[in-house]
Amino acid sequence: MKGIILSGGLGTRLLPLTKITSKQLLPIYNRPMIYYPLNTLAKAGIKEILIIVSPDRAGDYLNLLGSGKQWGLKFTYEIQDKPAGLPQAFVIGENFIGKEDVVMILGDNIFEDDLSEEIKSFKGGAKLFAKKVPDPERFGVVKFDANFKAEKIVEKPKEFLSDYALTGLYVYDNRVIEVAKNCKPSARGEFEITDLHNWYLEHNEVEIAVVEGEWLDAGTFESLYKAQTLAKEKLDSKMVI
Ligand code: G1P
Repeated sequence: MKGIILSGGLGTRLLPLTKITSKQLLPIYNRPMIYYPLNTLAKAGIKEILIIVSPDRAGDYLNLLGSGKQWGLKFTYEIQDKPAGLPQAFVIGENFIGKEDVVMILGDNIFEDDLSEEIKSFKGGAKLFAKKVPDPERFGVVKFDANFKAEKIVEKPKEFLSDYALTGLYVYDNRVIEVAKNCKPSARGEFEITDLHNWYLEHNEVEIAVVEGEWLDAGTFESLYKAQTLAKEKLDSKMVI
């Protein structure tokens, strides 16, 4: 299985912090933010990792992370010219992914749990990770049926649907490349990852794992602040990167 960390974007919600650097390079306690998603992949035994970055920050990533050899990993870098949505990662990453399955994590997603067994046990289709949150309207959301099977997935629903957010960790089989290529822009002009989930949902091939421990998408000041404590108190001693 190949790994992708999507670390593009402009981080405009964190200005002025992101005026001179990338959001995913900001410090979370004693490490740059991207070390946390990197850690999630490395623990799951993913060795080949594509890091997708924005053009003006590419040099910073190379300086910080290099080849990955120092951790027994192999990094490949690609540029995302414009942050036009998450599905683009699978189009940009087509050659890198080749014929394999792929796990993608967003560069600002920090998990307390060790999800390596969930990632390793992937068998096909799509495996998504959900977490109960107080502010589901900020995220892609999944509604479960009576048997706790995914029934409906909606990106940032305006009306309450469920309080299970879909986190920024996704495992897909190789078909995701073609599904992403056929994705159409949404009303806000972006390609939505939710459309990929829904393709798999229509084929009845979505599996959801519920995340028990803390999860943060460190894209706002509040979550960035919370991430510092999570990293210091719960993650520091468990990091392999
Ligand atoms: C993205 C996805 C959303 C997901 C979230 C997790 O949102 O579109 O479905 O719940 O990541 O971090 P964004 O952070 O780009 O607004």
